[in-house]
Amino acid sequence: MSRPWSLDTAAIHAGQHADPVSGAVMTPIVLASTFAQESPGRHKGYEYSRSGNPTRKALEECAAALEGGTQGFAFASGLGASTTILHTLAPGDHLLCGDDVYGGTFRLLDKVMKPLGIESTFLDMSDAAKVRAALRPTTRMIWMETPTNPLLKVFDIAAVAEVARAASVPLVVDNTFATPFLQRPLELGATAVVHSTTKYLNGHSDVVGGLIVTADAALAERVGFLQNAMGAVPSPFDCYLVLRGLKTLGVRMRQHVASAQLLAARLEEHPAIERVLYPGLPSHAGHALAMRQMKGPGGMISCVVKGGVEPARRMLERLQIFACAESLGGVESLAESPAIMTHASIPPEQRAALGISDGLVRLSVGIEDVEDLWDDLRAALA
Ligand SMILES: Cc1ncc(COP(=O)(O)O)c(C=O)c1O
Repeated sequence: MSRPWSLDTAAIHAGQHADPVSGAVMTPIVLASTFAQESPGRHKGYEYSRSGNPTRKALEECAAALEGGTQGFAFASGLGASTTILHTLAPGDHLLCGDDVYGGTFRLLDKVMKPLGIESTFLDMSDAAKVRAALRPTTRMIWMETPTNPLLKVFDIAAVAEVARAASVPLVVDNTFATPFLQRPLELGATAVVHSTTKYLNGHSDVVGGLIVTADAALAERVGFLQNAMGAVPSPFDCYLVLRGLKTLGVRMRQHVASAQLLAARLEEHPAIERVLYPGLPSHAGHALAMRQMKGPGGMISCVVKGGVEPARRMLERLQIFACAESLGGVESLAESPAIMTHASIPPEQRAALGISDGLVRLSVGIEDVEDLWDDLRAALA
């Protein structure tokens, strides 16, 4: 073939071949923990499943193809992936991180990495010059999430990648919210991408998993070493489920985006809603950048319900199709209150400073019929 596969094709075929033993067209789930060797050290490429497993390898190759990297590494959770890549740092190293990151990433940096001697500075990355100004001689990594959780801020990956490149510091982008179908950070200059595959990549809310993809040979070698040495690897069954979920990522993302765009526009007109945060709306501060940087503004909407936490709670209690639950990115719609649920551990003053108001509701728009979803939202807000 003269041109590379499109993402829809790669999602179904990359890293996957008919099984040479049976001809099975679906990747077998190889549960073996160990592999027979013809003689000591002579084998078919696998020795022990923590070090390498055929089902995991298929997922890692598929993910690498989708993100445009050369190597992928699968983990038992998104935080397992983040923990592993953060261990490429050493005591005394400094990290710059976006200020609106997933709470678990903040906790990992603040409560786990900091006591190990790796300090982080959190800052709004909307202005690349501010990122440059925050660099220290000891800065060894820049970490960015875009769009962010839960405020859906959009940061300029290419501009921050340029700052990172000039400082010879790797830029790691958490691409969980966007997925490679909507945003390709490596093409924009990022060094590595991390994912919680728990979300859109698996897409069915039945796996907890993570991934790292990079095209940087030195980083890949180090991450590969750490994946085996630290051992936060996923089960072959979970790898199979994520591979299966990936096959429909394109069609799912197209529907997530189309439905979220429609619901966001309607919510913006609703009298019970104070404000809608969705990168696809012209009212969003990052709209122009999102349209440039992303193929679609994603399936997540945050909105502020008038009257604060109690009306927001009532809305969540009344929803019938949207389940009141944490997490996101599944085929089913979910809704949550950051102030009461995902971000309750952040003190109220800090939440207010970040812009996470008590009436904020975060919606993960699934792929149910969009008019059914609208009826559900309208009834809950009535
Ligand atoms: C953007 C983002 N990154 C990372 C994670 C962590 O992933 P996991 O829950 O799979 O450990 C999450 C989880 O919610 C997330 O939303």
